[in-house]
Amino acid sequence: MSADQVFHSRSEGIPSEGVKDQYADGKAARTWNKFIGDSTQRTQNYKNFLIGLLRKHGCVSVLDIACGTGIDSMMLVDEGFKVVSVDASDKMLKHALKARWEKRKDAKYDEWIIEEANWETLPRDIQSFLPGTKFDAVICLGNSFAHLLDEYGDQRVQKMCLQNFAECLKPGGLLFIDHRNYDAMIDSGATPGHSIYYNCKYPVDIKTSVLVVRGKPELVALDYCIDTGEEGNGKSDFRLCYYPHKLDTFTKMLDKAFGSRAKHQIYADFKPLADVPVPGFYIHVMEKARN
Ligand SMILES: C[S@@+](CC[C@H](N)C(=O)[O-])C[C@H]1O[C@@H](n2cnc3c(N)ncnc32)[C@H](O)[C@@H]1O
Repeated sequence: MSADQVFHSRSEGIPSEGVKDQYADGKAARTWNKFIGDSTQRTQNYKNFLIGLLRKHGCVSVLDIACGTGIDSMMLVDEGFKVVSVDASDKMLKHALKARWEKRKDAKYDEWIIEEANWETLPRDIQSFLPGTKFDAVICLGNSFAHLLDEYGDQRVQKMCLQNFAECLKPGGLLFIDHRNYDAMIDSGATPGHSIYYNCKYPVDIKTSVLVVRGKPELVALDYCIDTGEEGNGKSDFRLCYYPHKLDTFTKMLDKAFGSRAKHQIYADFKPLADVPVPGFYIHVMEKARN
């Protein structure tokens, strides 16, 4: 082989750079539950809201498509919902699987399904382990969707994924999806350390960097430093990157993915929009049209 030929040391399709699983090195995954803080304190911020809407719409089966370490899924299992949890990161799933194992004596947890799946291939991934299944509700919470960056500059992958989410729902099914208030973050250049989702009891420093391409914010990088004070390996540093969804554009993208007959409600930190002047998060609730 001549020197200028390229030797492929891996199968085609295995990326050498731009790994999409931002949790792949295990650092953020290891610290994630500490970053979340007390799980009851976290979920009480939206438990009544979420469970109330799910029950009002008669939802029984819920697909958590960004389950991470399993925090929201476990709240739903505890409340008697039939939960299927997926995530693209095996490092995050490892913690959800461990949590299920620790609950093995609780019969409610026997039915909790945890699998690996990617939003880009979600309907196909779900069919591979639950053929023919559609859900009453899909949740994608904790600023997860923003992890999907925009490599082509036209948000085509994000649009396709939102269509995939709609496809996983039964007619009349609900999607709960959120994003940080990037409009405010870009204006202020800062990320609030405490929020409805993350209430770490240890000091958290988050450095916010915004990448602007041709005048348009295209990426927000958050460099987290969490110091648990433990001797030896108390400090955890990791970077997570997000697409800075603007409320207006994200709203239109969701409406397009679900079609004009879907219903769309927006909440601020799980409260009516008018109640929170500068929310940390926007939560969108989509109701898929009944055929
Ligand atoms: C910010 S964490 C939130 C996890 C959990 N919902 C919570 O609030 O703690 C985002 C999660 O989205 C997952 N994720 C990112 N991109 C994904 C994709 N394309 N398909 C499936 N999961 C993805 C990540 O692996 C990660 O576990």
